[in-house]
Amino acid sequence: MKEYTIAITGASGVVYGVRLIEKLLELNNKINVIVSNSGKIVLEEEMDFKYQNDKELFKINFLSFFKDNNNLCYYEIDDMMAPIASGSHKTDCMVVIPCSMSTLAAINNGLSKNLLERAADVTMKEGRKLILVPRETPFNTIHLKNMMELSQWGVKILPAMPGFYNNPTTLDDIISFIVGKTMDLMGIENDVYKRWAGQ
Ligand SMILES: Cc1cc2nc3c(=O)[nH]c(=O)nc-3n(C[C@H](O)[C@H](O)[C@H](O)COP(=O)(O)O)c2cc1C
Repeated sequence: MKEYTIAITGASGVVYGVRLIEKLLELNNKINVIVSNSGKIVLEEEMDFKYQNDKELFKINFLSFFKDNNNLCYYEIDDMMAPIASGSHKTDCMVVIPCSMSTLAAINNGLSKNLLERAADVTMKEGRKLILVPRETPFNTIHLKNMMELSQWGVKILPAMPGFYNNPTTLDDIISFIVGKTMDLMGIENDVYKRWAGQ
């Protein structure tokens, strides 16, 4: 069984993170989940997850959303005692999806001031794969600089930029494109999205 850390931050497109978790659970993986406080607000806004500034209420709603959540470990963003705060706890890879510009900046500067930032820092220091799925438009120079520097440290930047060459007809097709591309980068075989087969 592989173990992945999936973090959802307060950028638009939280559905990408939720779908990725669903797919990874279907494939019988262990998932550590961290949702930033702004991520909780956007999940309430975009997907109707009840938060109302109540972490316990959010946790119950979030966990009950996933049909089979036995392999889902939910950690609060301020839980610095969680196993994933230490490099001695082995995980296969970490994905921040979607990744806000705020979290992107914090990771690039090694702030480690909450569990999400610390887990990303640990992933980098241990030489494990870290994938960020940034979402913002347009990008300013600070965003671009942070992404360039992270890329130079070996972090994979997979912007939430769906392609249209596979002729999507539904919103689901567009979401699946980003989720499938993320799984490709994680090294997970999948047929989540329609691939280009040439002409
Ligand atoms: C509905 C909503 C949508 C947002 N969308 C984005 C976004 O797409 N990208 C982004 O960088 N920030 C976005 N923000 C702002 C972030 O949530 C804000 O910068 C926050 O401090 C990020 O904190 P976090 O990185 O801890 O989640 C959005 C905020 C709200 C309320």
